[in-house]
Amino acid sequence: MFQHAPSSITLIVFFFTILSPVSPNPEPVTVQPFRVKSSPPATIPAFPEQSDFSGCPLDLPEDLFHGIKSACSGKKLHKGRCCPVLGAWLYSAYSTTALSRSISAAARNASSSAAAITTPEEDMPLLPDDSETCVDGLGKSLRQRGIELTRPNETCDVVYCYCGIRLHPLSCSEAFRVNEEGKLVGDERVDRLETDCLSGSHNNADRFSPLVGCNKCLNSLYKLNPKKTSGTRNPSKEDRNRTAKMHNKDCVLMGLTWLLAKNRTAYFPTVTSVLRAVMLNHDGVPRSCALGSDGMPLAVDSSEFSNGSPTSLQYPHHLVHFLLYSVITLVLLMTW
Ligand SMILES: *[C@@H]1O[C@H](CO)[C@@H](O)[C@H](O)[C@H]1NC(C)=O
Ligand SMILES: *[C@@H]1O[C@H](CO)[C@@H](O)[C@H](O)[C@H]1NC(C)=O
Ligand SMILES: *[C@@H]1O[C@H](CO)[C@@H](O)[C@H](O)[C@H]1NC(C)=O
Ligand SMILES: *[C@@H]1O[C@H](CO)[C@@H](O)[C@H](O)[C@H]1NC(C)=O
Repeated sequence: MFQHAPSSITLIVFFFTILSPVSPNPEPVTVQPFRVKSSPPATIPAFPEQSDFSGCPLDLPEDLFHGIKSACSGKKLHKGRCCPVLGAWLYSAYSTTALSRSISAAARNASSSAAAITTPEEDMPLLPDDSETCVDGLGKSLRQRGIELTRPNETCDVVYCYCGIRLHPLSCSEAFRVNEEGKLVGDERVDRLETDCLSGSHNNADRFSPLVGCNKCLNSLYKLNPKKTSGTRNPSKEDRNRTAKMHNKDCVLMGLTWLLAKNRTAYFPTVTSVLRAVMLNHDGVPRSCALGSDGMPLAVDSSEFSNGSPTSLQYPHHLVHFLLYSVITLVLLMTW
């Protein structure tokens, strides 16, 4: 999902304000499938029909529409502002479906364990992609409310092409398993993840807390990945292995999905900042989060730093301070 980061991000816009009014009701996520078939225009169904379970059931709370509208509509699209918010809302909307499909996938695997381990084709997704059905449905719901996502151009849609968001059942058998009662449970690393990614668990007075939260959560997410085979300090060969890489992304995504399904209110801000770091990173595997010029976390180690555009946005700030202090010092020295 992360591989479509374009090489130039021109602006990282302050957007966390729209994240604060996340959800007034902290109840667990309930799934409401919504219609994929055409519906009468200009009518907003109070409750989506409970008919299309075969499609892509999504949970679409009112906050989702507000969140996506403020992040992704308007004249110009900003990747750093739109994509993480869109991603967090989409993964949240899809979380219950994703996790329940992971359970059935794991059950199928268990019943035919030997046959299940076939080598996937190099360019095929590991599990069926729900993106099209889900995103179609989301698009229709958005349009029903008069929200139109600004496309970068004719050929590029926002969710899939621009933001690289993929919705598919996830599998991360290293950290998650299905217990005897058929419920998905996480191991101790998942417990740790739940603690580390808790938004607002850090001192609110600390203005770097979004960064601290993002880094802790990111590191915890990477721990869900299968252990690297011993001796390989150079990741390049391993990282080129698409299968392993996709599986690792699955673990990270499954961790984020798990958190959003657990308690969206509590995890939404951190999940968004982690997604932001991941989405702005050229290969989607940032080593850590860093603060952008807007004070919000973004990826360290991202290609954006090498091609210079965000640096040129950040550095004038420091430069201005430096010049200011120099001038003050000079003036003081001269008046002495
Ligand atoms: C499928 O089964 C194999 C062998 O039992 C196991 O190693 C693997 O982790 C399972 N995969 C999933 C997704 O449960
Ligand atoms: C459309 O926009 C995407 C993302 O910005 C870009 O990668 C692609 O090259 C553009 N396509 C055309 C035809 O301009
Ligand atoms: C890629 O990784 C998978 C799983 O770790 C492994 O089975 C496969 O042999 C690897 N392929 C290459 C070309 O290294
Ligand atoms: C979710 O998190 C919020 C904020 O941290 C908390 O007030 C609420 O009780 C939690 N809800 C559940 C169901 O755990």
